Amino acid sequence: MVGNRRNLIFRVSIVINIAVLLYAALHLSGSNGPGVEWVPITVDGSERSADLPYMSRTIEFRNITETRLPDSSMKNFEESTSQKTPSTMPTTNKTASSTTSIAELEKKLHDTSSEADVTNDTLEIVDENALSDATLARLRFLLACNERDFLPQYLQRGEYWVLKNYVRADHGQVLCHETVTYTTHAGFEFLDNVLPLVERWMAPVSLAIHTPGADLLPTVNSIRYLRDCLGTNLIRQFVTFHVFFSNRRIPNKIPDPNIFLSKAYNCSVLPPFVTINANETYMKKEKLLYPVNVARNIARDSALTHFILPSDIELYPSPNLVPRFLNMIARNAKPLNTSTKPRVFPISIFEVDAKVHVPSTKTELQAMLANKTAISFHKYVCPNCHNIPQGQQWMNAKETNQMDVFHVGKRQGKYVHWEPIFIGTHQDPHYDDRLSWEGKADKMTQGYILCVKDYDFMILNNAFLIHKPGIKHYVRDPKRDTIAGKQTSYIKKIIMPELKKLFGTRTGCAL
Ligand SMILES: *[C@@H]1O[C@H](CO)[C@@H](O)[C@H](O)[C@H]1NC(C)=O
Ligand SMILES: *[C@@H]1O[C@H](CO)[C@@H](O)[C@H](O)[C@H]1NC(C)=O
Ligand SMILES: *[C@@H]1O[C@H](CO)[C@@H](O)[C@H](O)[C@H]1NC(C)=O
Ligand SMILES: *[C@@H]1O[C@H](CO)[C@@H](O)[C@H](O)[C@H]1NC(C)=O
Ligand SMILES: *[C@@H]1O[C@H](CO)[C@@H](O)[C@H](O)[C@H]1NC(C)=O
Ligand SMILES: *[C@@H]1O[C@H](CO)[C@@H](O)[C@H](O)[C@H]1NC(C)=O
Ligand SMILES: *[C@@H]1O[C@H](CO)[C@@H](O)[C@H](O)[C@H]1NC(C)=O
Repeated sequence: MVGNRRNLIFRVSIVINIAVLLYAALHLSGSNGPGVEWVPITVDGSERSADLPYMSRTIEFRNITETRLPDSSMKNFEESTSQKTPSTMPTTNKTASSTTSIAELEKKLHDTSSEADVTNDTLEIVDENALSDATLARLRFLLACNERDFLPQYLQRGEYWVLKNYVRADHGQVLCHETVTYTTHAGFEFLDNVLPLVERWMAPVSLAIHTPGADLLPTVNSIRYLRDCLGTNLIRQFVTFHVFFSNRRIPNKIPDPNIFLSKAYNCSVLPPFVTINANETYMKKEKLLYPVNVARNIARDSALTHFILPSDIELYPSPNLVPRFLNMIARNAKPLNTSTKPRVFPISIFEVDAKVHVPSTKTELQAMLANKTAISFHKYVCPNCHNIPQGQQWMNAKETNQMDVFHVGKRQGKYVHWEPIFIGTHQDPHYDDRLSWEGKADKMTQGYILCVKDYDFMILNNAFLIHKPGIKHYVRDPKRDTIAGKQTSYIKKIIMPELKKLFGTRTGCAL
């Protein structure tokens, strides 16, 4: 995603050999084969590497200071969503640039295939913070992923209505190998986190917002404020908003994005996420529970990329995480190329003092850990919940100049209840839609499945997440404890037997 920002228009230049052309054309033409299992691929010296397809694509972000034609990004909101023709792509000239139609892309692949480069086994990475054409080509080959569509859609998920891609990012169609999506969720009162998050992530964000009843309107106003009033186009560029609500809490009026996006927001009015008291949302007043896993699953399922980072909106990633991670994947060194287990990539999490700034490098983080302005996540709330295998060694290890796997851990033994946040793929188990945030332990069922499936937890060396500044202390909440008690027994009595039937058991795995 990192590119030259000089030009207005996204330029696609592709060099590819015939083998990949056929393969890519197959995928691009919309055959929705089942997801590809992750198999480690030997790049060095294997037979397959002799056919290493070489594909390059230069991406140049359009000039983001350019003015936008806001009305058309949602033009197709009401249209049939089953088509995959270029006409269903966003139609502004701005987005059209990044949504080079699939037909055009295929043609491009064709036209340039004669330029196919020779096979080259060594991947030389000059800049870890950028993705070269060679890296992208290698990723395309290793991931063998399929493109996913980027259309607005009304869906149902259990009792919930989902307005998927309600407000889409301007990035347009994204190829599945070229970046990583941060998938997250919130009520509108948390939307102050969007800007600091995007400034550090600098890649697509898929955000699901719970908007029961009267919470939709302030949500829409908050989205408009974020897009129009912050003096940056980053949010327009990267963030796609989905909204959802229970079928018993359908908002009286559902604003049409075609209309509200065509009007500039009055930026002298403070956004609802600043003016609201957290206890005065419709959700709180109606005493609704927050369907955290429905939200997580919506955000995740809508992501366009092969790799996703499902996370909480208050967790800000270390800068350059995306290109560094993808360069690591493209290098495909040990243990990536030797382990045959399914894998996810956990990221270490920390809290920092309310008065300090969020660290940008591991070295800076270590200095803050030393003077106690940073601590490991939830140290004072639930000291063992987020213990990470070799966490102390991680904190002691010096920052290195490239991303690597620091340690391969398992969710067993001392870490049997570990709730890691990790980069994974669409193939990882979902979160159980029936669990609420108030009920706690909402990620445990996923953790259990990962354990039974013998996942490797490949902890990343230099990457970290920092919680929005402010160190949390444990506060007793008797109401929540009651709900948590009920949820815990529901998980044990109802969900656990289901999981055993579906996924079996493994010694050492527990909820
Ligand atoms: C972007 O476009 C604006 C207005 O069209 C222009 O003033 C500015 O110089 C451009 N920036 C770059 C980096 O091209
Ligand atoms: C898009 O660009 C073309 C020419 O480049 C122009 O004719 C057309 O009016 C533009 N469309 C919009 C919506 O601005
Ligand atoms: C392979 O890539 C390396 C580094 O990019 C380069 O020095 C070398 O010339 C390339 N070899 C071939 C055969 O293209
Ligand atoms: C924007 O809001 C401010 C404050 O409420 C108001 O004074 C101003 O007239 C509004 N501007 C427009 C163009 O509506
Ligand atoms: C909500 O919180 C504010 C202070 O944060 C308090 O003044 C107010 O009474 C609370 N409202 C309700 C309905 O609990
Ligand atoms: C894995 O990558 C390493 C480089 O880190 C290489 O030396 C090794 O041969 C590779 N192993 C396999 C099985 O391809
Ligand atoms: C702690 O360390 C950080 C990073 O070196 C520094 O910016 C900060 O001022 C230090 N704070 C205190 C209270 O020593």
